[in-house]
Amino acid sequence: MKAVLDILDLSTDELEELIAKAEDIIAHPAKYAHAADGKKLATLFFEPSTRTRMSFEAAMYELGGHVITTAGVDSSSASKGESVADTAKTVSNYVDIIAQRHPKEGSALVAAMHATVPVINAGDGGHCHPTQTLADLLTIKREKGRFDHLNVGLCGDLKFGRTVHSLINALARYPGNRFFLISPPELKVPSYVKKAALKDRAIPYLQTEDMLEFMPELDILYMTRIQRERFADPGEYERLKDSYILTPAKLETAKKDLAILHPLPRVNEISVAVDDDPRACYFKQVLYGKYMRMALILKLLKEQETDKGVARKVDFSGPEYVRDSLRCKNGRCISNVEQELPQVFRRGADGVCRCVYCEAKADPEP
Ligand code: CP
Repeated sequence: MKAVLDILDLSTDELEELIAKAEDIIAHPAKYAHAADGKKLATLFFEPSTRTRMSFEAAMYELGGHVITTAGVDSSSASKGESVADTAKTVSNYVDIIAQRHPKEGSALVAAMHATVPVINAGDGGHCHPTQTLADLLTIKREKGRFDHLNVGLCGDLKFGRTVHSLINALARYPGNRFFLISPPELKVPSYVKKAALKDRAIPYLQTEDMLEFMPELDILYMTRIQRERFADPGEYERLKDSYILTPAKLETAKKDLAILHPLPRVNEISVAVDDDPRACYFKQVLYGKYMRMALILKLLKEQETDKGVARKVDFSGPEYVRDSLRCKNGRCISNVEQELPQVFRRGADGVCRCVYCEAKADPEP
């Protein structure tokens, strides 16, 4: 493995290996204080972040490694028009591993195609955020003790909330889970995520606008912020921004051992009065994110020792790929910003062609 772009790049065995490693780091931090001595991490953040960037950096320092960073488009040559591909090739000369956040969907794949060191997707637009899911999974493991037979409520912006997509994909691989998708109609989970993760595998899910309807059934309530920065129409954001506000009163019917998660940052969707509720896990989730990133950095550095300098092989030559006859219609896709990227679609078993970068459906289809 040379890149983690999507939570599905990690098998369930690998997820459990990372969780076991993170729990060992929590129990024996001194054992890992020099585990990455002499290694360097680049944090390339072309979109704002507090938790992800700082926890990657804290993780690398706690492993004895070093960090170089570019935080914000303005502090790098991206502001002069340098491509994601050229940036990844360049930075590979300086470091052993890259964590990248970028507002365009599919940008992490482009970085991984051109880097010669491992690339971790630290968030690509509204697409994926696998290391947040690692934080979510460790929180669930420590709070609930399992990943199966859980009633999982996801509430808020389920369209643009990339952490929601990654968490559904991760938990859908375990038996007995049921999903309660709570959102306004405009912010439902995209159909490609529902289809691949839930419908095609006959995993039960319900969609509702009412956050109270299934509250008594939930084992996990994953709240999310309405993502202002992803709305093309500011008026639409204003209309939807207060759709859900979790308060102590709304938790009256909830289970005593409900785990309330939130990837943060929070705006107003969880009242601060909920923070003192023992079921509120979102600040523990922040800390667990650092330990999971430590475990992931160690895993990728170890694997890098065996294939140093080899770029991630991405082969679009198979018969399932459709090249250059279609254009991605998703304005948030990296292939619509960096015009020299090849337009490539993958035809799935259902015959539908999806962009390899952002997974948007081809329209019209060939
Ligand atoms: N959860 C999360 O990704 O937070 P940041 O945007 O602060 O990194």
